[in-house]
Amino acid sequence: MHLRTDLRLENVTLSAGSSVVLKGVSLQTSLAGITLLSGRNGTGKTTLLRALLGLDKPSHGSIFLRNAVPEDIRKDVGYMPQSIGDAALAIPAFSHVLNAVGGACWGLPFHWRARRREAERVLKLTGARVFAHRPLGALSGGERQRIGLAQALIGAPELLFLDEPLAGLDHGAQNEIISLLCELSRNLGIGVLMTSHETSSLKDVVSRTLLLEGGHLRARI
Ligand SMILES: Nc1ncnc2c1ncn2[C@@H]1O[C@H](COP(=O)(O)OP(=O)(O)OP(=O)(O)O)[C@@H](O)[C@H]1O
Ligand SMILES: [Mg+2]
Repeated sequence: MHLRTDLRLENVTLSAGSSVVLKGVSLQTSLAGITLLSGRNGTGKTTLLRALLGLDKPSHGSIFLRNAVPEDIRKDVGYMPQSIGDAALAIPAFSHVLNAVGGACWGLPFHWRARRREAERVLKLTGARVFAHRPLGALSGGERQRIGLAQALIGAPELLFLDEPLAGLDHGAQNEIISLLCELSRNLGIGVLMTSHETSSLKDVVSRTLLLEGGHLRARI
């Protein structure tokens, strides 16, 4: 298999407040298949994902995704944040996805009919269409994760960055989400980079692990 370099860090120093998340880290890796970004609470996984999206900036060094700076490749990257804002919980899940298709973040020019089609498409992909009429706050954790995933799939991204998509789920629901991620990666060729503390549930499906610890990031195949 051809392993291209999807992610390249060149001497990156990255901080959040007074915490130094990366201390002069250089690393290059493929993101094909499923990549687990692992590390203890507070080591900086969310901060690193945000930097890969161009939302946070390193104080030193450079980040490249597929040879582009993060800002230039944002439309090819779907993102599921660690938590959805409380204000969103009252609106129907479908509207939540539909609003996101508007593409305010990613600059996609969608006509309203095409927006609706795109919302239907991504909800179908994640098996969330059947409960998408209900308010987000009235959905179970697993159902909500499928809505979040649907939102991240808008615009057919090549890479998916998922922050704790298994958090708060029981084993059955975790396995359902893991199977879904495997399908997305296998059938659509999407490279998935996800944070999770569920390393044992994921050990058979991940292609590689990136371990974040004490300001260092190490890859393990
Ligand atoms: N906006 C901020 N201002 C100040 N400090 C912050 C900010 N965001 C994060 N931090 C700090 O940076 C460190 C890394 O936080 P981050 O949320 O990236 O960790 P994490 O690995 O995602 O943790 P978790 O596993 O709990 O999700 C923490 O010490 C956190 O308190
Ligand atoms: Mg986090």
